[in-house]
Amino acid sequence: MKGIILAGGSGTRLSPSTDSINKHLLAVFDKPMIYYPLSVLMLGGIKEIMIISTPEDKSRFEALLGDGSDLGISISYREQSNPNGIPEALTLSEDFIDNEPVALMLGDNIFYGQGFTTLFREAIKNHKHATVFGYRVKDARRFGVVEFDHNQKVVSLEEKPEHPKSDFAVTGLYIYDHKAVSIAKKLKPSSRGELEITDLNKQYLKFGQLDVELLGRGFAWMDAGTHESLFEASEFVKITQQRQGFKLACLEEIAFYLGYISKDAIYEKGMSMAKNDYGQYLLEIAEREHNQQYWESIDRNPILGLVENE
Ligand code: G1P
Repeated sequence: MKGIILAGGSGTRLSPSTDSINKHLLAVFDKPMIYYPLSVLMLGGIKEIMIISTPEDKSRFEALLGDGSDLGISISYREQSNPNGIPEALTLSEDFIDNEPVALMLGDNIFYGQGFTTLFREAIKNHKHATVFGYRVKDARRFGVVEFDHNQKVVSLEEKPEHPKSDFAVTGLYIYDHKAVSIAKKLKPSSRGELEITDLNKQYLKFGQLDVELLGRGFAWMDAGTHESLFEASEFVKITQQRQGFKLACLEEIAFYLGYISKDAIYEKGMSMAKNDYGQYLLEIAEREHNQQYWESIDRNPILGLVENE
């Protein structure tokens, strides 16, 4: 499975903070926003990832993440010249997708919760055509909304409806089979002048090929696309990290526990920013690794958000 992160757009809802920098490079508490979607794809076991951003920002993402080899993965980059909508991410990366299934993720979405990794991995393993993830929200009018019956069969989909038919938003994480690119190519812009991912999903729905996975109340899902939501997301990350002592979306930690990078690599990265909390966290991980007894007593699954299957 390939992975795509859409990190383009003009970020007007976050202006003036985004007048000279891409929204996805802004910090959500102690790390750039792009770390969060990247962590999700990595936890899903996806190792080939393309980041789509604006022509102005492409080099900044490259400076931050390189070719991914420091994380034991492969990251490539592509430009989206105009914010023409989410489905364009699929057509722009047609050669990268290369007829394989793909997980597409919006760069401002943050997922957190015990069992999320397991749920995502299962969804990847079991997916047939298209899978979306539903999450109950207080004000569904801001999102794509999914209505489903008691068998969790999708009945309808609407983009930012005035009168939502359910309280379940469609989150910014989508799994598609190879047909998504050709469907995306045929879409027409909506009244807001963009290609809509909801229209693409509706095509799958029309043929009975759209599955929804519901994220329950134990999960946190946030988008950090407005000043308010960005601040809330930062607060959430800060409070969660402070309480447990685990960092959310620490890419080096994930790469390390997935066995992609060595203890020495995590130590070196930690040393390069040893004066701050992020660097110290990495050094602590490397340090613990030296302590065989500690290491033997620890279960990696909770660290990776994995839940044992019953
Ligand atoms: C987009 C999608 C919407 C989805 C949301 C999730 O909205 O169009 O269906 O629910 O992402 O973050 P936008 O961010 O363009 O308002």
